Amino acid sequence: MIRKPIITILGHVDHGKTRLLDTIRNTTVIDREAGAITQAIGASIVPEETIQRICGKLLDSLGIKLIIPGLLFVDTPGHEAFTNLRKRGGNLADIAVVVIDINEGLKPQTEEAIQILKKYKTPFIIALNKIDLCGGWVKREGGLLAQLNAQTDQTQQALDMKLYEVVGKLAELGFESDRFDRVSDHTKQIALVPISAKFNIGIPELLMVLTGLVQKFLAKKLEVEVKGPAKGTILEVKDEKGLGITLDAIIYEGTLDVGDIIVIGNIGEPIVTKVKALFIPEPLKEMRDTKGKFVSVKHLTAAIGVKVAAQDIDNVVAGMPIHEATEDTLEQVKKDVQQEIEEVLIETDKEGIVVKADTLGSLEALLTLLHQKNIPIKRATIGKISKKDIMDAQANCDSRPEFGAIVGFNVGLDKEADVCEVKIFNDKVIYKLIEDFEKWFEARKKALETAGFDTLTPVCKMQIMPNHIFRRNNPAVVGMDILAGKARTGMRLMKDDGKHVTHIKSMELEKKSVKEVEAGKQLAVSLPGITIGRQLNEGDVLYTFMAESEFLALKKFKKCLSKDMISVMKDIADIMRKENPTWGL
Ligand code: GTP
Ligand code: MG
Repeated sequence: MIRKPIITILGHVDHGKTRLLDTIRNTTVIDREAGAITQAIGASIVPEETIQRICGKLLDSLGIKLIIPGLLFVDTPGHEAFTNLRKRGGNLADIAVVVIDINEGLKPQTEEAIQILKKYKTPFIIALNKIDLCGGWVKREGGLLAQLNAQTDQTQQALDMKLYEVVGKLAELGFESDRFDRVSDHTKQIALVPISAKFNIGIPELLMVLTGLVQKFLAKKLEVEVKGPAKGTILEVKDEKGLGITLDAIIYEGTLDVGDIIVIGNIGEPIVTKVKALFIPEPLKEMRDTKGKFVSVKHLTAAIGVKVAAQDIDNVVAGMPIHEATEDTLEQVKKDVQQEIEEVLIETDKEGIVVKADTLGSLEALLTLLHQKNIPIKRATIGKISKKDIMDAQANCDSRPEFGAIVGFNVGLDKEADVCEVKIFNDKVIYKLIEDFEKWFEARKKALETAGFDTLTPVCKMQIMPNHIFRRNNPAVVGMDILAGKARTGMRLMKDDGKHVTHIKSMELEKKSVKEVEAGKQLAVSLPGITIGRQLNEGDVLYTFMAESEFLALKKFKKCLSKDMISVMKDIADIMRKENPTWGL
């Protein structure tokens, strides 16, 4: 026996992933989705008979005999990454269908999906959807090719043009591809199948290509994994009425029974518990869609989407591995699971940025894409951006300001974020997150390397004026006397101990907010993260706190520096050289 292959449907928002699955399953999940945007990942089984019914004739004509016991399709939301579909060292999916709206072509999220498939070496095909909206398409009789050939020359040309635009883009990403009927070698070329999910055109052809590929290239892989202890991945942790916290998981290997011991990955010790109940959707339904009408089962076989009820699972995070164990194998399985998680997390004392994500899967995907861009990473973990993360990133600011950043995917932000100069990126879309970070990173690097004088932080010496404390903290607001140099918002500050204490959040001169002021002025300055009377006092003299690289960059512009700027730089260098005698030389 061989197990069902797991097929993920990926692609940009609204390109028609859910509609395609609906057409295959002949159900209408789409109508019931909030705003018709896929909210969570859903898994559904398309049985052998359905495949036979949809594309049996096509398979027969090619002499392909159906041997797989159906397909397990996993729908993913296009607005978020499909990132929890992971397993150790690879993709949970055996094969993927990337849906592209032929009229729109590849979008950033499509590229992101393809990048991750490439990294995991997951085979995929492309469904070029919405052909009914392309270049005057008219419905004709027959199968896809017959219908394509019966279109006017103009329509055919329009379709071909769009198709070869996609082929060109795929070539840029490192893939050869062509229309499925023109593919001569499926190991070298990606097949593109034009379809209309809405009008049910090209679906038999798509299933035929999919089934053909699975049976030809993956049958061996599917055969070996049907027995033995279950292994799976958590897709979602959900509170279900009457059941409490449950886990939606895809079991990709082995068999699972009620009463089995399961080990679930966790930050810290793995969670060990027992399966209390198992629920599966009926064939052609999906986990997301059955709304409590699950079928309760005692035993199941991979590959399958399942809802697991168990105790002590409140803190489980999506993307974590779930493995079955016995009394005898428990310790080993715990070790394996732990190791799997540690392979994803990064903890170093090297220079680099700090990375945070909400789940193990999204962290892994984010790291994959950051590695591809050769961005050094100091630490990567799951969870909210904490004080420690900020301190770690802050430590970078001194030596390598371009690494003074935290890249967070879909995570909460600590209040402390305000008190530091660390740049924080936080977004729910991975490609956007990386794009924003890269822009900043490049600009920052460039500014430091070839800095124009005005892009560099100026230097300043200033004094907190006695009897001018307007607010003690949150943030402190004080009257400041600019003694020498120039003050600028964002500027980090230190006392003569060389330790960074705060930065200038904002400045107000004659009731107007200003970004920069020269020596000789007195104005109100707000300083976050400190309390007057504790870290700072009336009368304290403050200096610009800067990274050595910033100092060196500034030194290059001797000609632009005023006399009092040079004297402040000398003061700063004297302060810093108490700890590091060669600082700034
Ligand atoms: P997300 O889940 O939000 O990422 O979107 P999706 O990729 O699942 O898209 P969905 O299936 O929800 O389709 C988006 C819209 O496009 C819906 O209004 C569909 O009816 C429409 N649509 C999907 N396929 C086709 C098609 O082949 N032709 C036409 N004309 N419309 C289509
Ligand atoms: Mg959808």
